[in-house]
Amino acid sequence: YFLGIDLGSSSVKLSVFDAEQGNCIASVTMPESEMEINAPKFGWAEQDPELWWQYTKEGIKALGAKHHVKLSRIKAIGIAYQMHGLVLTDANLKPIRPAIIWCDSRAAVYGSQAYQQIGEDYCQNTLLGSPGNFTAAKLKWVQEHQPEVLEKAAYMMLPGDFIAAKLSGIAQTTASGLSEATLWNFKEGRLANEIMEGMQLPVEIVPEIVPNFGEQAKISHTVANELGFSDDVIISYRGGDQPNNALSLNTLQPGEIATTAGTSAVIYAVSDKDTYDKQNRVNTFLHINNSEQKKRNGVMVCINGSGILYQWLRKTLSTSSSDLIAYEQLNQLAQKAKPGSKGLRFYPFGNGVERIFNNKSASSGLEFLNFNMHHSEELVRSACEGIVFALNFGFDIMKDIGVSGKVVRAGKANLFLSPVFREIFVNTTNTSLELYNTSGAEGAARGAAYGAGYYASLNEAFSNLEKLNQLEPTKDLTEQYQEIYSHWKNHIKTDF
Ligand code: XUL
Repeated sequence: YFLGIDLGSSSVKLSVFDAEQGNCIASVTMPESEMEINAPKFGWAEQDPELWWQYTKEGIKALGAKHHVKLSRIKAIGIAYQMHGLVLTDANLKPIRPAIIWCDSRAAVYGSQAYQQIGEDYCQNTLLGSPGNFTAAKLKWVQEHQPEVLEKAAYMMLPGDFIAAKLSGIAQTTASGLSEATLWNFKEGRLANEIMEGMQLPVEIVPEIVPNFGEQAKISHTVANELGFSDDVIISYRGGDQPNNALSLNTLQPGEIATTAGTSAVIYAVSDKDTYDKQNRVNTFLHINNSEQKKRNGVMVCINGSGILYQWLRKTLSTSSSDLIAYEQLNQLAQKAKPGSKGLRFYPFGNGVERIFNNKSASSGLEFLNFNMHHSEELVRSACEGIVFALNFGFDIMKDIGVSGKVVRAGKANLFLSPVFREIFVNTTNTSLELYNTSGAEGAARGAAYGAGYYASLNEAFSNLEKLNQLEPTKDLTEQYQEIYSHWKNHIKTDF
């Protein structure tokens, strides 16, 4: 057996993959109610890393107790995680402050300053982008505002590195992880010390770098004992949730594209070139299968408000917080409205600064609301349309810089569970959508199996993915959506 852990922003999902049978035998999500994102100040987004670890352990225990998985049969663990977050710990791996997560906007200004100081040429040619609002900028914020906290830091880690460290007792990170932090020199294939130095950040807190696949560390004896694992379990894979979503869908080669719409929504294209957007509106990071022989980058658009907006709509349309309507009901409401939601336009930009607008905030909410014409049906449908339109805005930028494709893959999960969302997606982006029966946690588990040597290639590890169906755009709907999308686009309001 192989265990996949997918640490998201609203939950930790875990799946056990039985490599002999070639499928997942059990999955759990922790906690059952969604995890909070704390915002002590406007634009901030924090979570407690110890809580991630607690839910991970509870999830593992539930796999054993409720799902009767023989945990002693697990050979290796793979970890996918919410990207770009900053976890600072002391030498005993104890967090010294809450994690500043991906959608926290407070540090955007430090990224822009570094971009100016270190220079556009260096940042673009070497990092394939700007420090922007990523982990390096978040670390600078801590240095400026909480120097006494940074003094205590022995390690800076990404969220998945922290889970791996709690499992093994060893702090490590990966090259792809450092690229998400804007701490990777793409040109020379090494840690970008010069960024740390240029931003006057302490380079010694970057932990050891290990490959994404292969034996990274053994789990510690204490953890094995507590959780009922055998002592020789290894961590054999880790990757950010977006490259991992691509991996889950066997999206590894240039020209292949994956998408997802969880808390955030992403279109992720694999490229063998150092493609980047000069204006930093879409991002380029190392893909998890990058190697010295074969360059593999992930070029992606990320919209901060997708599932988090749907979650908000669900709460808002429910009469009581203890009796929430089902997501399925929201999907049915959206189905009742017509394309274009009778002119109602939703701008899904309520979760921090948006990268597609170069880290500026855009006005979120509704436009053209008419009290007589618009009901909950139009409200929900226009939210789905707004999310897809925002993605399409970034997809157009990706096409401008030379990354495009006519087929996109998604797992049947999150907003892609909604037939109406899928229909809006294919017709707005004018692509075919291949829908698979898989998840990020399953991808992480299959990745762990490959990393532990069970398969000779990643292709083999993903060879029996179950394709559920393929959706095609139609001429009539693509024409309609082209018009609706341009109307939406013409009414975006940003603060620049
Ligand atoms: C990707 C990104 C988000 C997080 C969400 O660049 O910031 O998709 O990874 O977990």
